[in-house]
Amino acid sequence: MPAKDLDQVVNLCKRRGFVYPSGEIYGGFRSSYDYGPLGSLMLRNVKEAWVRTMVQQRDDVVLIDAAILGAPQVFEASGHLSNFSDPLVDCTVCKRRFRQDQIDDRDCPQSKKGCEFTDARAFNLMFKTHAGPVEGEGATVYLRPETAQGMFVNFANVLQTSRKKPPFGIAQVGKSFRNEITPGNFIFRTREFEQMELEFFVPPSESAQWYDYWCKSRLQWYIDYGIPAEMLRIREHAKDELSHYSAGTSDIEFLFPWGWGELEGIAQRTDYDLKQHAEHSRQKLEYFDQSTNERYVPYVVEPAAGANRTMAAFLLAAYDEDLVNDEPRTVLRLHPRLAPFQIAVLPLSKKDTLMPLAKKIHAMLGMRYMCDFDETQAIGRRYRRQDEIGTPYCVTVDFDSLEDDSVTIRERDTTAQSRVKIDVLMSEFSQRLGY
Ligand code: GAP
Repeated sequence: MPAKDLDQVVNLCKRRGFVYPSGEIYGGFRSSYDYGPLGSLMLRNVKEAWVRTMVQQRDDVVLIDAAILGAPQVFEASGHLSNFSDPLVDCTVCKRRFRQDQIDDRDCPQSKKGCEFTDARAFNLMFKTHAGPVEGEGATVYLRPETAQGMFVNFANVLQTSRKKPPFGIAQVGKSFRNEITPGNFIFRTREFEQMELEFFVPPSESAQWYDYWCKSRLQWYIDYGIPAEMLRIREHAKDELSHYSAGTSDIEFLFPWGWGELEGIAQRTDYDLKQHAEHSRQKLEYFDQSTNERYVPYVVEPAAGANRTMAAFLLAAYDEDLVNDEPRTVLRLHPRLAPFQIAVLPLSKKDTLMPLAKKIHAMLGMRYMCDFDETQAIGRRYRRQDEIGTPYCVTVDFDSLEDDSVTIRERDTTAQSRVKIDVLMSEFSQRLGY
């Protein structure tokens, strides 16, 4: 399957209200994006799909929601203050900065020939600010660069309160911040983004087997939610690519329009983080196994994904153009769980006679599904709009509905239509959507 065209998807996102450049009325704020009425629903669906698989459908993972602002001690212990940096070079001609690995032996992308680069310097990616009215020493706080540290610093709290024992995991979904030198490629690399991370604590001897398990099951998750297998691959990091905490990492990559790019990293963090925090906080961060009388610091296997990147991949994979009755149409073949709306309720006419019934059906289906309601334009154009935003089903309420208590269900992918009684509509959708 070939990579999709980025511009088509970016245009659709803007046109239909998925993603807007942030602060657009002021000319935009570079590489920041706002999620519109449809994008915010879809991003939420991506995160919920992750929580469903990683927490809800398991008995060995719990969810937390930790603070975004962190004390310097946390990031001193985690190694982020000293190690979380990119090597950066300056072009002496255009004065712009680049990540060294994006330049290598090439000319400066800005000033082209005749450029000269300075030696590389380490540039820390953490956003720093201050808490309270006084700046300076003692007031410094950092925006977290990964959600992971929230799980490590709460390891003992969760162990005490959740009755879990290794192997078990702590999951979190939330915002992270990195002062990226070269953000770009739409929502692929931004300075503010959302992560979906699991820290899975295991007996050290089981670490390799769990690493293998998580690589396979995370790859399968993307396939289950609709990305064709041939647009995905797993790539193991070379030694010189590894993060400071990792003894081995594999990336799940997606074939973006510009080439293969990371969606998720699965890392073997060993006992690095718990040991670092135990040492710096002088607290015991270990597990005592009463059945064997053994005390140990668990190893961690970490599947860490990005919600925004993943949403971009789902959109790119779902984008399609075909012909319906010889007319070209754009269709997002999104998994129903990811689509902003599962159903759109469309009264055939704006006439008062149809509205009460259509609204009643919308309210009924809205108890379980996110439903759009659209009474504008001709019905054909409304179907096209729903196809373009990925809505798997439309429910059309027409004048016959008042007589036969039935509505028409139209499928996005096949455009097939069928007549269904209103009183079995809920169970019909439960069957079709699988929930
Ligand atoms: N706790 C491990 C960790 O943070 P990472 O590979 O740096 O690992 C995990 O980040 C995921 O977070 C990435 O695979 C990517 O999907 C997402 N991510 C990282 N930096 C990002 C950025 N600047 N913009 C958007 N997503 C990002």
